[in-house]
Amino acid sequence: MAGASGSIYAARFIRALMEIPGETWFVSSPASVRVFREEFETDVQSGEDILKFVTEKWGPKQVHKFHIRKFEDIGADIASGSNIWDGMVVVPCSMKTVAAIRTGITENLIERAADVTLKERRKLILVPRETPYNRIHLENMLALHDAGAIIAPASPGFYQMPKSLEDLGDFMATRIFRLLGREIDLYPRWTP
Ligand SMILES: Cc1cc2nc3c(=O)[nH]c(=O)nc-3n(C[C@H](O)[C@H](O)[C@H](O)COP(=O)(O)O)c2cc1C
Repeated sequence: MAGASGSIYAARFIRALMEIPGETWFVSSPASVRVFREEFETDVQSGEDILKFVTEKWGPKQVHKFHIRKFEDIGADIASGSNIWDGMVVVPCSMKTVAAIRTGITENLIERAADVTLKERRKLILVPRETPYNRIHLENMLALHDAGAIIAPASPGFYQMPKSLEDLGDFMATRIFRLLGREIDLYPRWTP
């Protein structure tokens, strides 16, 4: 999680990940924790707190392995391509993290792991949120697209009449899972 608005997208994606067999390495930037605090009007202080918040709020049926890694720990396992993971998602993704990944200036574990994901030709899915975009944002995202990343903006559809923030989060989570190669319908498919 990077520090863009849209904590609900991360929260609902995390909730679904908890129920799906597999392992997740979870990193949250200090800015993302702050935004989460504001957007859920809660007092989370860390990645651990965010996972606890999600579990308590939505009570996933089962909780699969979540490995929490520290944002500052550029020596963590996921800082090296010698460890294997299927893909990486930055949700939500700030323009600052977009810029860092684009330039390869990787000063924290999110940026480093994204850099590794790209160099190892694994799936990197970025869910940016900003409006409007300036030329720098657009150029950075285009360069990342050309380098193999998938830019999946946080822009849920409204044609299925979402009733809640959870619905909007689940729309995005479903799309992210599909990009990762997993067909998980958290939200109904469109039927004309
Ligand atoms: C309440 C709040 C909302 C923010 N929303 C956005 C946003 O939607 N998009 C964005 O690019 N940055 C946003 N920011 C700014 C980022 O948090 C800031 O650039 C930060 O340095 C990003 O660091 P990180 O990418 O390492 O998390 C927001 C900051 C705050 C406090």
